[in-house]
Amino acid sequence: MTEDTRWARRPLSGYDVRLPVAEDAELTHVDPGTPGGEYLRRFWTPVAMTTQLGARPVPIRIFGEDLVIFRDGAGRIGLLHRHCAHRRASLEFGRIEERGIRCCYHGWHFDVDGTILETPGEPPTSKICGSICQPAYPVRELKGLVFAYMGPPGEIPAFPYLDSFDLPDHELIPYSIHSPCNWLQETENAIDPFHSVFLHGRVNGPQFPGLEHFVELPVVNYSRRDAGIVYSHARRVGDLVMLRFHDYLMPNLAQNGGMFQKLEKPKFFGRTSLTKWVVPVDNTNSRKFGWRHFNDKDEVLRQGKRDEVGWETVDFYGQTAHRSYEERQGNPGDWDVWVSQGPIAVHGREYLGKTDEGIAMLRRKLRRDIRAVAAGEKIAQVGGTPENPYPTYGGDTVLRVAKSNDDEALMRGLQQQVAEIYFAADGLKGEERSARIKADLKAKFPDSAG
Ligand code: FES
Ligand SMILES: [Fe+2]
Repeated sequence: MTEDTRWARRPLSGYDVRLPVAEDAELTHVDPGTPGGEYLRRFWTPVAMTTQLGARPVPIRIFGEDLVIFRDGAGRIGLLHRHCAHRRASLEFGRIEERGIRCCYHGWHFDVDGTILETPGEPPTSKICGSICQPAYPVRELKGLVFAYMGPPGEIPAFPYLDSFDLPDHELIPYSIHSPCNWLQETENAIDPFHSVFLHGRVNGPQFPGLEHFVELPVVNYSRRDAGIVYSHARRVGDLVMLRFHDYLMPNLAQNGGMFQKLEKPKFFGRTSLTKWVVPVDNTNSRKFGWRHFNDKDEVLRQGKRDEVGWETVDFYGQTAHRSYEERQGNPGDWDVWVSQGPIAVHGREYLGKTDEGIAMLRRKLRRDIRAVAAGEKIAQVGGTPENPYPTYGGDTVLRVAKSNDDEALMRGLQQQVAEIYFAADGLKGEERSARIKADLKAKFPDSAG
């Protein structure tokens, strides 16, 4: 075969794919009026860190909308459209008042919900105050994050409350990091356990202390929930089977296993180290908001650094732009790869394999839900209240189980059994739930106890 024939017989040449292919707009576009944007607006979503709220209003952008956020003198938070209802001056130049904010241009005074309190240049007979308002959104403050609901005002869902928001012995520190790419790229990273084998192990060497076993290919098991997906990945190290559970809750919330652990012996129902949302800023920018969970029981290596968690920073490897290009190229992290997929990764140019089962599952679910919203149907929402929180599973269980001839089947069985024990305790809460799960695991796997 000549060199020329060899090139002609390849399945694809560079020339075959030289033309651009449209992105998957239905899943990736979030701007006002897009089906994806309409869907995402049905959920409470984090939009700011409370540490951003100081003496001046803060311009922010969420779902392609320009907004301004501030805390007034009375301590209330306002999230308003950025351009003043009068003649569109930006309220980022406004003055924060004891009550609300005042536009710098002609002094119109708005309450935190956009109510016009005063139009000082207008005659006393003016009807403006009662007839219009500054467009605004409802907000909720929780543990250093500000959440907003940006959907139709008649359809505000209950604010979701997960058990992981109040785990005993967990200190939650908020953080936020920008990525100059579409939101789906980062969020898909959270449902792709196979990248850990390569990015965090085989290709670059171990990146996370205590998780060196990530180099082994995992056995992965996915379970569907109404409002998301739970999955676990299992790996064998000697006579131990490491089972790591992840939560993915629609549309953009993920919780993983523990950080900085020492998984050298059996362990029951360890809890998550991260609760994080990937929030679209617009079609080609996103911002993660989350809490890093600090908890000495799971993080026995004590390598977490509270003072490295905050605005544009978090205390584990490869999560921000703030490394030299040389360093990022030499040992790329999660942030580098999801940004490298492009401003909007083109699904039509991907080739998904068996290891992308989670990605495909998430995309199918998103597409179904986006279409349901477009058809005027109700979609499942994460529930829960502080008194009766929504159960989650992110975290690690380690069992001592001898290797079998069909170890993959054995690990699949273990994943099922552990998941069933986790799910069976959904009706319980707090310490009672945790104690039940641990007792049931102990009874089922006596060799792992003690
Ligand atoms: S533009 Fe804001 S008061 Fe005139
Ligand atoms: Fe990762």
